[in-house]
Amino acid sequence: MRPIFIAGNWKLNPPTLAEARQLAVDLKVQLPSGSGVEVAVCPPAAFLAPVVEAVSGSSIKVGSQDSSPHASGAYTGELSTNMVKSLGCAYAVIGHSERRQYHGETNQSVNQKTVAALASGLVPIVCVGETLAEREDSVTFAVVEQQLREGLKGLSDSVKTGAELVIAYEPVWAIGTGKVATPAQAQEVHAFIRQILASIFNSAIADRLVIQYGGSVKADNAEELLSQTDIDGALVGGASLKADSFVGIITAANAVAVSA
Ligand code: 13P
Repeated sequence: MRPIFIAGNWKLNPPTLAEARQLAVDLKVQLPSGSGVEVAVCPPAAFLAPVVEAVSGSSIKVGSQDSSPHASGAYTGELSTNMVKSLGCAYAVIGHSERRQYHGETNQSVNQKTVAALASGLVPIVCVGETLAEREDSVTFAVVEQQLREGLKGLSDSVKTGAELVIAYEPVWAIGTGKVATPAQAQEVHAFIRQILASIFNSAIADRLVIQYGGSVKADNAEELLSQTDIDGALVGGASLKADSFVGIITAANAVAVSA
């Protein structure tokens, strides 16, 4: 059985350290106990260390929203995977569509960053997903397959059990738009992703890899999405910025975990 994994991507929020600490503390206090659902938050780089401290003593893990392919050197503004790991983080989101759109990330840079994250012992959350134009052109499967094959190239030595890596399917047209993919639309792509992962790795590893859905996930649509066979979690943007709405999603995930 795959665990359910709910992660909050805070993006460029909240505006101050005090608010970031408060959100982390509220989450720690309100986290439903004994769920078995894995929970992580991915704050902005500047808030990683204080958020790690704020959630310590709870089961909440912390991840970065990006990380460098380089270990050290003259790379102004970068954050290495060893730095992220040394702060006490467990995850690094890699290749989010906003990084691809606004920061020129490619499947090749995603690959280099994923290799670096794995080498540092971070679990990369590798994001894939088609734009609205690509969906309308019926190239969703081709786009996602290329993102996976190029982004995960040469990883067979580092991915041995399936626990080392997480995939997030985030259709770009569903991010921040309120237009959530229907459970059937999401499941169709998730099943396809698992099939590609089986061909990249093998079917035993593909069966164990967690594939999150992301794009307008809220407390009231989470249960139906997470009940789909190949949807193993959620990568949540807007609804992770308030403890009660994020906890609502975790509670929905708990209900799915219990009934599974
Ligand atoms: P929203 O939940 O705000 O649509 O964002 C999804 C996302 O991009 C998570 O990485």
